[in-house]
Amino acid sequence: MKVWTDGAEAGLLDRFENRGSTFLYLPGGPPARAVSVTMPMRLPSWDVRFGLPPIFEMNLPEGVLRERLRLAFAKATGTFDEFDLLGIVGRSQVGRIRYTGDKEQLHEDVPFQSVDEILAQRRDGGLFRYLLDKFAPSSGISGVQPKILVRDDRALGRTTSRVSESHRGATHIVKFWEQNEYPQLAANEYFCLKVAEKCRLEVPPFRLAEDALALVIDRFDLRPDGTYRGFEDFCVLNARRTDEKYRGSYETSIMRRFAQFANYSNVGEDLERLFTLIAVNCALRNGDAHLKNFGIVYDDVEGEARLAPVYDLVTTTAYLPKDSMALTLNGTTKWATTRELQRLGETRMGGSPARVREILERIDAAIVATTEEVRAYIKEHPSFAGIGNRMLQQWEQGAALSLRAA
Ligand SMILES: Nc1ncnc2c1ncn2[C@@H]1O[C@H](COP(=O)(O)OP(=O)(O)O)[C@@H](O)[C@H]1O
Ligand SMILES: [Mg+2]
Repeated sequence: MKVWTDGAEAGLLDRFENRGSTFLYLPGGPPARAVSVTMPMRLPSWDVRFGLPPIFEMNLPEGVLRERLRLAFAKATGTFDEFDLLGIVGRSQVGRIRYTGDKEQLHEDVPFQSVDEILAQRRDGGLFRYLLDKFAPSSGISGVQPKILVRDDRALGRTTSRVSESHRGATHIVKFWEQNEYPQLAANEYFCLKVAEKCRLEVPPFRLAEDALALVIDRFDLRPDGTYRGFEDFCVLNARRTDEKYRGSYETSIMRRFAQFANYSNVGEDLERLFTLIAVNCALRNGDAHLKNFGIVYDDVEGEARLAPVYDLVTTTAYLPKDSMALTLNGTTKWATTRELQRLGETRMGGSPARVREILERIDAAIVATTEEVRAYIKEHPSFAGIGNRMLQQWEQGAALSLRAA
C-alpha cells in the first residue's frame, strides 16, 4: 500500500516474508516527508520480521474497535491481519500519516456527526452501537476502550479561526465505556483531566455527555487550516511494539527519551511538564500511564518536537484497587513516594529541590480543588457516587504518598 505524509506520497509498504513488512521511500522525496523522527529518508528499505514498524502500528485500533472491524471485514478477506486493518482505517488516522491502496489517490472523508447530539444522548446505548458501526472504518486510533473519530467542525472549542469549509477529516475523538467493565469511565477521565488542567498542563478541550455516557475531546493534532500535525507516541520513540507498551521506566523510556527527540533548545520547559504529568499520574493513581499514553507533536519531522497535550488520564484503582504503575520508577512499579518523585524531578528534569516541591504542591492543590467539583457532581448525579467516592479516596491516598512530605 501507499504511505502518505502531509498529503503527499512518501513510500510503499508491503508484506515481507511470512509475517513481516518492508517499507521503501520513493526516491528523491524531500527529507521533510519522512514518516517518523525514528525513520529518516534513505534508499534502503526499512524492514521488520514481525508485524509493522512501530510508527505504522501506532494507530491501529485495539480492543473493542478492532474486534468490530474484524467482524465486519474478516469475512471478505478470509484472514485478518495488521495489513488488512491498516487498509481499512488507513485513510483517517491520528497524526499526519495516511495509507491507501497502491493505485489509489488519497481522500479523507469522515462522515459528519453532530457532537451536540452525542453530548445530549440519554441512556439507552443505541446511539453508540450505531456510531461504532458507522465510524469504525474511519477511526485510525489506538487504545483498548471503545472510541471513534468523528467530524464536526462547528463544535471545536478552539479560540482561533475555524477550520476551512472544504475540510473533511475528523475533528473529535469520542470515547465510550462498557457498562459492565468500567462503569463511569468517561466521568472518571473527565475529572482527572480537570486536575491536569488546574496544574496548568495543556489539555485539549473536552466535554462530558449529559448522562456521562461519553467523553468528547478535540483532536490536538488538527491545525486551523484543516491539515494535521505530526504525532508519535513513546512506543515509537522507544522502538517498541504496541504489546510492549508496559515495558520501560519513567526515567529512561519517558524522560530521557523525550530529551533525546525534542530537538528543541528550550527543552527544559517541556521536561517540567512531563515531570508534572508523571507526578499527576501517580497522585491520581492512574495505573495505565504506559508508553502509548505519552506523545510528541511537531509541524516538521526534522524540526522541533513538543510534548503532546495531555490525554487518557484515569483513576484505574477505582476499578482495580491493587493496580500499580504502568512503567517502573526507581526499578519498581509500586506507587512512587514524594521522595522518589522529588529525586526524579531533580535528576531528570534538572529542577532545584524547591522548584520540584512547588510542582508537587501545585498538583496537591489542583486535586483538592477538583475534589470539590467531584462532590458537587455526585450530588447532581447519584449514579456516579460509587465510582466517584472511590476516586476521591484514591486521590487522598495518592496525594498523601506521592505529593506530601512524609
Ligand atoms: N486529543 C487527541 N488528539 C489526537 N490524538 C489523540 C487525542 N487523545 C488521544 N489521542 C490518540 O488516541 C489514542 C487513544 O486515546 P486514549 O485516550 O489513550 O484511549 P484509551 O483509553 O483507549 O487508551 C492515544 O494513544 C493517542 O494516540
Ligand atoms: Mg491510552
